[in-house]
Amino acid sequence: MSDQHGTIESHPLQQPEGVETFPPADAFRAQANVNDPGVYWRAAEDPEAYWAERARQLAWSKPFTEILDWSNPPFAKWFQDGELNVAANCLDRHVAAGLGERVAIHFEGEPGDTRTITYAELTHEVKRAANMLTSLGVSAGDRVAIYMPMIPETVVAMLAVARLGAAHSVVFGGFSAESLRARIDDAQAELVITADGGYRKGRVSALKPTVDDALALGGGGSSVRRVLVVERGGNEIAWTEGRDLWWHEEITAFDGDHSPQGFPAENPLFILYTSGTTGKPKGILHTSGGYLTQAAATHRDVFDLKPETDVYWCTADIGWITGHSYVVYGPLANGATQVMYEGTPETPDWGRWWSIIQKYGVSIFYTAPTAIRACMKVGRQVPEQYDLSSIRVLGSVGEPINPEAWRWYREVIGAGTAPIVDTWWQTETGAIMISPLPGLTTLKPGSAQVPQPGISATVVSEEGEPVGNGQGGLLVVQRPWPSMVRTIWGDDQRFIDTYWAKFGDRYFAGDGARLDEDGDVWLLGRVDDVMNVSGHRLSTAEIESALVEHHAVAESAVVGADDETTGQAVVAFVILKSQQTLLDAEDPDAAEAALKKHVAAQIGAIARPRQIFIVAELPKTRSGKIMRRLLKDAAEGKEIGDTTTLADTMVMQTISDRVRAER
Ligand code: WTA
Repeated sequence: MSDQHGTIESHPLQQPEGVETFPPADAFRAQANVNDPGVYWRAAEDPEAYWAERARQLAWSKPFTEILDWSNPPFAKWFQDGELNVAANCLDRHVAAGLGERVAIHFEGEPGDTRTITYAELTHEVKRAANMLTSLGVSAGDRVAIYMPMIPETVVAMLAVARLGAAHSVVFGGFSAESLRARIDDAQAELVITADGGYRKGRVSALKPTVDDALALGGGGSSVRRVLVVERGGNEIAWTEGRDLWWHEEITAFDGDHSPQGFPAENPLFILYTSGTTGKPKGILHTSGGYLTQAAATHRDVFDLKPETDVYWCTADIGWITGHSYVVYGPLANGATQVMYEGTPETPDWGRWWSIIQKYGVSIFYTAPTAIRACMKVGRQVPEQYDLSSIRVLGSVGEPINPEAWRWYREVIGAGTAPIVDTWWQTETGAIMISPLPGLTTLKPGSAQVPQPGISATVVSEEGEPVGNGQGGLLVVQRPWPSMVRTIWGDDQRFIDTYWAKFGDRYFAGDGARLDEDGDVWLLGRVDDVMNVSGHRLSTAEIESALVEHHAVAESAVVGADDETTGQAVVAFVILKSQQTLLDAEDPDAAEAALKKHVAAQIGAIARPRQIFIVAELPKTRSGKIMRRLLKDAAEGKEIGDTTTLADTMVMQTISDRVRAER
């Protein structure tokens, strides 16, 4: 089945009024990595030459002669006759250049333990781990699942897998056993690297037990042969002899002698699963040379990185694409010094992030609007207690940043002067696509503004015609880019159907957007059935199918309703089976609580609905299609839209009365 495509009609266009703009300060512009506006037209004139030049900033064991092969769209090949080792580009190269003593990672554990890891030390650890993985049978072409907390070993594990030419599939530690198992099965991973547990919100959150549960599902019998366990939480865990191994015990047998082998530029680097419009997550495949080129180039340009002096911090979890590209590959390829923090921003109190910035002198800070809004709610008096004067660039990612949050971020965290780069991109794009460049762009709060040099993105109508300035439509990328998704793992047809069927050889991103009078891009949110909750992508279909898997549920409809803090929130409408016994419809509170818990157990806590409404009927058209748009209106407390196409127009009245009663 192909993914459905949304339409422009499903998304209201908002026209921001009287936008205040912020040009770069002269002093910032003068020192910026990119301060010649000519870069845009030079790259536009010959994008392939531009990307080849950026690719040559990496170390290739065999230089490429071919830049792009687009002879079989949408299957792009970049730099395909070249060979490189991705891990050596992130490690050995810097040590060889005499930078071994530079700090790669300032690690801050949630309980307060710290570790400082230099490039020489990180390289040594990755080499040992690569030797250990080789002894466990990992080799080029294999897949390794990684289910870990935010600790340095997670980076070591990813780079060791990459060093061997194998592909990792990192699964966010908040996902359930079911979700983990589905990802292990889809990728046919033979090894899982995990930890006993990690620290979150002041306590140990177990991970290994979830791996055990995942592997026991369906009576056991998975592709997994070994589970390698890092000791972190110290929590009690079960042990399967012959399958489970302690990382710290195994690693002692291996030294740091390991020569990196070059692999073809199109060798798979990783699979990362993301929600689509159907219930089944998509395994987004990224490869090596093009991915690393764009991750490194954008990290340097967009954040104006000066590796010798900056201390960079991206708060994203490694389980998401932002963690892959802007905690692991981009920063390490650039030889950056970065902070890695294990826990949550409110532990032990809401000053934690700001105390970390003060302690390490963080100069570039990259986070998500939902986190900024949460900090706004707590109040500026908290960050004001800390010295944040080291900050010189701020970044935002994951969803549109509302102008109010933008101003707060600039004022309170950025001393009223730091440029904010609002970066639009996706798991599929692999790296930043649309963003200001801090030394060039006059900033507009709320807009991601300009495609990066060498990137051709624009807004088109439903029919694929480019819209003019001042008009809205759908965001497309017109030419292949180096870090683009290569396919959906094991499902080329779904790859074609989802992204390319709509506009031929242009990539359909699934986002609505408009161009303002200056031609700047304003992102307007998803046009398909994908929700964005706290910057995380969730599929309505996936949560609906989790709900109907509950024995008491007959039918369900899920919508993403606007939410002040999380951007959108999951709201579910559920019809219970008439004969159901376990859930008492007379006690809706208990039923709602049970169903929320069920969704969290099925998918993960991030998918837990904010609200569940038990209803007698759902609004349907005469042909039986559920009208989610109307449910979204109701969930947001808005005037209900046009109900004339409903088979029974009274249904919506009943539902909206019900929602209103609870507000
Ligand atoms: C949304 C995260 C507006 C968008 C890197 C996209 C944004 C989806 C922005 C991808 C932004 C991300 N402004 N919307 N700056 N950044 N999005 O795959 O809807 O987790 O399609 O990648 O997040 O989410 P993903």
